[in-house]
Amino acid sequence: MAHSSSTASTVTQPFMEVLRGQRQSVPPVWMMRQAGRYLPEYRELRAKAGSFLDLCFTPDYAAEVTLQPIRRFKFDAAIIFSDILVIPHALGRSVRFEAGEGPRLDPLDTPELIATLATHADDTKLAPVYEALRRVRRELDPSVALIGFCGAPWTVATYMVAGRGTPDQAPARLLAYRHPEAFARIIDVLVEASIGYLIKQLAAGANALQIFDTWAGVLPPREFQHWSVEPTRRIVAGVRKAVPDAKIIGFPRGAGAQLPSYIAQTGVDAVSIDWTAEPKLIRDHVQNRVAVQGNLDPLALIAGGETLDRAVDDVLASYADGRLIFNLGHGITPETPIAHVEQMLRRVRGHRA
Ligand code: CP3
Repeated sequence: MAHSSSTASTVTQPFMEVLRGQRQSVPPVWMMRQAGRYLPEYRELRAKAGSFLDLCFTPDYAAEVTLQPIRRFKFDAAIIFSDILVIPHALGRSVRFEAGEGPRLDPLDTPELIATLATHADDTKLAPVYEALRRVRRELDPSVALIGFCGAPWTVATYMVAGRGTPDQAPARLLAYRHPEAFARIIDVLVEASIGYLIKQLAAGANALQIFDTWAGVLPPREFQHWSVEPTRRIVAGVRKAVPDAKIIGFPRGAGAQLPSYIAQTGVDAVSIDWTAEPKLIRDHVQNRVAVQGNLDPLALIAGGETLDRAVDDVLASYADGRLIFNLGHGITPETPIAHVEQMLRRVRGHRA
C-alpha cells in the first residue's frame, strides 16, 4: 500500500528527525493522553459526544479533540484521539466505557469462547479513525508530526480476557498459563488486526506509530518474551513489509532491564520509557541504538513547583545528550493543573545543549 505522505517534504518535523536518527538541540515534546480530562475544552466536547466510543468514532469530534492540546501548547506531535480497545470492538466484542470506571468488555476467558473470536477485524468500524487522521493531517501545521497507534496484543488481550482493567492483569496471565494455545489464538488475531490497522493509519496521514504495551511489566521474562516481544516484533515486521520506512515507537511499560532485548528483537525505532528506568542502563544499552521517549513522572507534573523543575531537569540531564523525545512516563492524569504543563514546556524549551 502506498504511504501517502501528505506533509510537505520541505518542512522538517523535529519529532520525526529524532526518529530518523537526528538528535535535536531542543528535544521535541508531547504527552501521552495529551487530549483528555485535564483540559476543559475536552470535557466540554466529551459531554456533547455522549459515549466515549461516539467521541472516538465521530471524525469531526475525534479530530477536534486531537487538535485541542496542539493549539494550546504547540506540542511537536499530535496523537490521534482513539483508544486501544477499538480493535476488540472491530472484532465484534462488546466494548463500553463507564464514566469513572474505565472499560468494560464481555470477558473472553475460556477456550470455548476464544474459539468463537472473529478472525478478522471489521474495517468499516475503524474507517472513522482513518477519516479523523486525514482531517487532522490537513489542519495540522506541517512541522507537527501526527502519531497513529494501537495497543500491543498482550495489553489488549488483558482487557479482552478479564473484561476490564485489574491491578495486575491476573486473569490474562492465568489463562495464558492454563491454556497457552487458546491464548495464542487471541494474540494471533490481534497481531493481524493491528498490522492492517497501523498500515491504514499511515496511509491516512499518520507520520509515525506507537504500540502501547501498558501491561508488559507484569510478565515474567519468559512470558514477556512470548506475549510482548514476539507479537510486537511480528507487528513491526508486518507494517514494514508494506511501508519499509515506517517509524515505530514501542512502549513496554515496566520492562525495565528487559528494554535492551526488547529493542533488539522488535526492531522499533524508539522506545518510550517509564519513570522507573535506570538512566545509565538506558543510555548505554538503549539510547545508543534507538531514540528514547519519556519519562517524567506524571505525579511530578501534578506536584508542580520546584519538584517539577527538578524532575524535568533530571530527565534532560539523563537523556538530552542523546536522541530524546520529551514525554511523560505514562499518561497525564485528569487532576493535573494546566499551568504545570506550561511550566514543564518552558523548562524543556528553554533547554539547549
Ligand atoms: O494519548 C492520547 O491523547 C490519545 C488517546 C488515547 C486514549 N487511550 C484516550 C482515552 C490513547 C493513546 C489511549 C491508549 C490506551 N487506552 C491505553 C494504553 C496507554 C495507557 O494509558 O496505558 C490503555 C490501557 C487504554 C484503555 C483505557 N481507555 C482505559 C484503561 C481507560 C480508562 C482509564 C481512564 O483514564 O479513564 C480508557 C479510557 C480513555 N481513553 C480516556 C481517554 C481520554 C478517558 C475516558 C473519558 O474521557 O471518559
